[in-house]
Amino acid sequence: MNNSLKILNTFNLQVNAYKISIIKDLQKLCQLWTKYKKKYYPCLVLGEGSNVLFLNNFYGLVIINRIKGIYIKESKKYWNLHVNSGENWHKLVKFTIKNKIYGLENLALIPGCVGSAPIQNIGAYGSSIKDFCKYVDVIDPINKKIKRFNNQDCQFKYRDSIFKHKNYKKYIIISVGLFLPKKWVPNLKYYCLKHLKIFNITPQKIFNYICNIRKKKIPNPKIYGNAGSFFKNPYISLQKGLKLLQTFPNMPYTLKDNCIKLSAGWLINQCHFKKYLYKGVTVYSKQSLIILNKFNNSSGMDILNFAIKIYNTVGKKFNIWLVPEIRIIDNYGEINPLIYFK
Ligand code: FAD
Ligand code: EPU
Repeated sequence: MNNSLKILNTFNLQVNAYKISIIKDLQKLCQLWTKYKKKYYPCLVLGEGSNVLFLNNFYGLVIINRIKGIYIKESKKYWNLHVNSGENWHKLVKFTIKNKIYGLENLALIPGCVGSAPIQNIGAYGSSIKDFCKYVDVIDPINKKIKRFNNQDCQFKYRDSIFKHKNYKKYIIISVGLFLPKKWVPNLKYYCLKHLKIFNITPQKIFNYICNIRKKKIPNPKIYGNAGSFFKNPYISLQKGLKLLQTFPNMPYTLKDNCIKLSAGWLINQCHFKKYLYKGVTVYSKQSLIILNKFNNSSGMDILNFAIKIYNTVGKKFNIWLVPEIRIIDNYGEINPLIYFK
C-alpha cells in the first residue's frame, strides 16, 4: 500500500492505493479491471481527482484515465466533436476556441477530464455541459458491452446526471459527443457577465474574462488543496424561500424552475466559517463554498469533520440541509454521503 495518490487528487490528501495504473487505451483498461475484479479487489476510475474526497487508503486498483483523442465532423449548422474521456476539459475548451469552434468558453478552466464532465453535468457562468452534449458512450467493464446515452437519456440536472445514480455507476465513460452550433450566440446571462458589451464581444474575450475571474475567486489546488464547491447550492420551494427572506432579507437568491435557488456560499458565510480553522481545514476567504486543505497536511477525515460541522451549523441556523457535491471514497469505493450528512 505505498502507491501515493497525493498528486492525483486535488485535495492533495496523502492516501495510498494498492495499485495505480495510468491507462491510455480501452483494451488495457478492461484487461486490468477484469484481472483485479477476479481477485476481488475494488476498482476505481479517476480522471484528475478534482471532485473526490479520499477518507482513507484505497485497498484496490485506481485507474487514471488518459484515453485521448478529439475527432471533429461538421454538418451545415453544427460542429460535432467526439472526444475520448481522458482528455483534459480545459484543454478541449482552448482547442475548440483556437479552431474557431465556439460555445464552450463559459466553461473554461473547470478542472478535470472530459469523461467526468457529464457525470455531474459540470456548469459555470450560466452554461453547463448538458447544453452541448449530444451523447455519452460508456462501457460496462464486466461484459465489455458499449452503450450510447443520448442527451435525454443522461437525465442531466443541476450537478447531476444518471451516471451518479445506483445502477449506472458501474459504467465507465469512454467518450463524449458534443455539438456546437456554427452560429455563435454569446451567453452573458450570468450576473457577473451581464455588463459585457454584446456588440463587440467575442468568444475569446469571454474565455479570457472567465479565466480571470476564476483565478481571482477560486483557489489553485496546487497551493491550497480543494475540490471546488464542497456542497451544491440548495433549491427550495417558493413558500420556504419567502419565509426565509422575511428573517434574512439580504439573502441572495435566484428564481429557477419555480423554485428558489440559494447560495450555499452565502449561508456558510453567515455562520462565520472563514474565522474557523479546524486541524488545518477552513473555507476559502473569497468563496465560502470551497473547503481548503490549507497546509496540505490534513486528512480526509479532518475535511469530512469540518464539512459535517458546516452542514449542522447551516442546518440549525437556516433549516437548510446542504447536499455534498463531491464524491466520498473510502477503503473499498464510494460511500453514500447520507451516512455522514443526515
Ligand atoms: P474525478 O474527481 O477524477 O472523478 C469524479 C467522479 O467521477 C469519481 O467518482 C470517479 O470515480 C468518477 N469518474 C471519473 N472518470 C470516470 C469515467 N471515465 N467513467 C466513469 N466514472 C468516472 N465543477 C463544476 O461543475 N463547475 C465548476 O466551476 C467547478 N470548479 C472547480 C474548481 C476547482 C478548483 C476544482 C478543484 C473543482 C471544480 N469543479 C467544478 C469540480 C470538478 O472540476 C468537476 O466535477 C470535474 O468534472 C471532475 O473531473 P475529474 O476528472 O477530476 O473527476
Ligand atoms: N456568495 C456569498 N459568499 C460566498 C460565495 C458566494 O455571498 O462566499 C454569494 C454571492 O451573492 C455571489 C453568489 O453567491 O454573488 C454566487 O457566487 P458565485 O458566482 O461564486 O457562484 P456559486 O453559486 O458560489 C457556483 C458553482 C461553481 C461555479 C460558479 C460560477 C455550485 C455548487 N458552484 O458557485 O462551481 O464555478 O457558480 O458559475 O453550483 C464547483 O461546482 O465546484 C464550482 C466551483
